[in-house]
Amino acid sequence: MTSFKHITVNPVAGALGAEVSDFHLGDVNEDAFQEVRVAFLEHQVLFFRDQEITRDQQKAFGSRFGTLQIHPFLQPLKNEGHPEFILLYSNAQSPYLAENWHSDVTFVQEPPLGSVLRCVEAPEFGGDTMWASTYAAYDALSDKMQRMLSDLVAVHDTVRSFSRPSYDTAGTGRQPPPVMSAEHPVVRTHPETGRKGLFVNTTFTSHIKDMKPAESTALLSFLYHHMTTPDFSCRFRWRPNSVAMWDNRCTQHRVVADNKTANRRMERITINGDRPY
Ligand code: SIN
Repeated sequence: MTSFKHITVNPVAGALGAEVSDFHLGDVNEDAFQEVRVAFLEHQVLFFRDQEITRDQQKAFGSRFGTLQIHPFLQPLKNEGHPEFILLYSNAQSPYLAENWHSDVTFVQEPPLGSVLRCVEAPEFGGDTMWASTYAAYDALSDKMQRMLSDLVAVHDTVRSFSRPSYDTAGTGRQPPPVMSAEHPVVRTHPETGRKGLFVNTTFTSHIKDMKPAESTALLSFLYHHMTTPDFSCRFRWRPNSVAMWDNRCTQHRVVADNKTANRRMERITINGDRPY
């Protein structure tokens, strides 16, 4: 494990995840920031506590990793001058939004590099988020299975999420948005670390190309089950002003939707990525 001069990094689980202290996201010190970059690539998801930052500071921090994405469907703070933010707000009337395992926005040609999620209001208990390392899932497969997956391509789309008839259009008379889709390798190579990871998820992956439907369904269901093995995961308990930043190229995540009546408000920005290979 890398040791650092400016920041303190403590892993929270064996496969991925580390809590970073002695760093404020508004900190412009380049040396400290470069250490955060190294820790990010090594630990795949980083957690920061007590980050009382403005939306502009959250965007400035994310922008140091790349340009920010404007989500094709969700821009709730556009009128407040922040089209880059999405909100994950839940309470007794609004269900959790992200309770299935996913990597963010994999239905576009160039899915995000990562996301920075800040907790504004946390439930008294529950509403944790889990992440799973897709490197660890890939590494745990047999050589034969790795070879079999190596030239497969999957189709990702919005059919079961943003474009499904019931999605957020109930009672508004609005039509669901047109389907977006993209093809990606089932095994992707991380452009910065060179490590391989599985790149399919239950929310956006529709099927594996050039396979019979029953073959694709059986293989994907094996992979989804395998990828969520507890040994490959970590879990984070939120407090207001906690921030998580994850690498969308080698992790997937979901909220634990267990305290359904509590107010929970999270604000996320997403960093643009490149085409998986
Ligand atoms: C997300 O999927 O971006 C957020 C997950 C969460 O609400 O914890």
